[in-house]
Amino acid sequence: MRWHGDSLELLDQRLLPVEEHWITAEGAGGVAQCIRDMVVRGAPAIGISAAYGVALAARHAAEEQWRAEIQQALEELGASRPTAVNLFWALQRMKRVFEECSTLKGAVARLAEEAVAIHEEDLAANLAMADHALEAMDASSPLSVLTHCNTGALATGGYGTALGVIRRLHEAQLLEAVYADETRPWLQGSRLTAWELARDSIPVTLNADGAAAAILAQGQVRWVIVGADRITANGDVANKIGTYSLAVLARYHGVGFMVVAPSSTVDMSLASGADIPIEEREASEVRAIRGIPLAPEGVNVYNPVFDVTPADLIDLIVTEKGVVRKPSRETMAALFS
Ligand code: MRU
Repeated sequence: MRWHGDSLELLDQRLLPVEEHWITAEGAGGVAQCIRDMVVRGAPAIGISAAYGVALAARHAAEEQWRAEIQQALEELGASRPTAVNLFWALQRMKRVFEECSTLKGAVARLAEEAVAIHEEDLAANLAMADHALEAMDASSPLSVLTHCNTGALATGGYGTALGVIRRLHEAQLLEAVYADETRPWLQGSRLTAWELARDSIPVTLNADGAAAAILAQGQVRWVIVGADRITANGDVANKIGTYSLAVLARYHGVGFMVVAPSSTVDMSLASGADIPIEEREASEVRAIRGIPLAPEGVNVYNPVFDVTPADLIDLIVTEKGVVRKPSRETMAALFS
């Protein structure tokens, strides 16, 4: 995303990898629409965009009713997607700043500053997580990893969470191969992760989601590395649908399972993953791709777009604040009390 001080441009992720098209978001309502429609997606990127949306609301607000307009923007952005807690975390930060402002002029300046800070802090967190992860992996020779969904620069303030770790492994010449699940139904893996890695000349092998078991059974992959949309107080992790099955496979095959996410993804107010609202999206995402039917018209579809991986299947949760090994209520509280 590109912030110009008075406008926000978003790379339309729906069109990748075919077309690189930037959209100028029209005010807070436009940003909310872009989040809902997946022009921008990925937990941290949703939070950052929403913060810029609030800044835009201040910029466009009328002097007589600026408070009501910003309040409405906070509500509209908060209703855009339910699962990634980064959205609510970012809006909470923006709301706190908004409540301290006594003039519209002050709000315009301070809300923009706060949104930029959220963006910059996310990028810094990505870089710190890559450091922590490499230290925790303690790899002395090149290794192969498998990842799911897209957790790269497109999904964050830049660099990436799980993909940031993969980038760092590559930079350190410790990456033998990276398998990218295509990530049905929205295909974040094939459309976005493969695109990002290929652009950065990081050799990537794309696989159908159903091939992951066979790949892990071959014994080459040492780590499954994924991102997260919400991590609860007991260490359960909501992430892109299909993550849970990868965690089961990893445990069965003796492969490490690592979750990489900034602390803005941690929601200590929820006791367990059972409390996380899981978004379900339209049937058309499963029935068709770009309007081309893949199933009989009107077939019944179940399309939850996230699942919850229980903490006891996770070896490491890596955040910028440090690493939680064997996540549990106790180990989570030790880092996020
Ligand atoms: O539906 P999406 O594409 O927003 O889902 C994205 C994911 O599940 C990512 O793995 C998660 O947000 C982490 S992104 C750094």
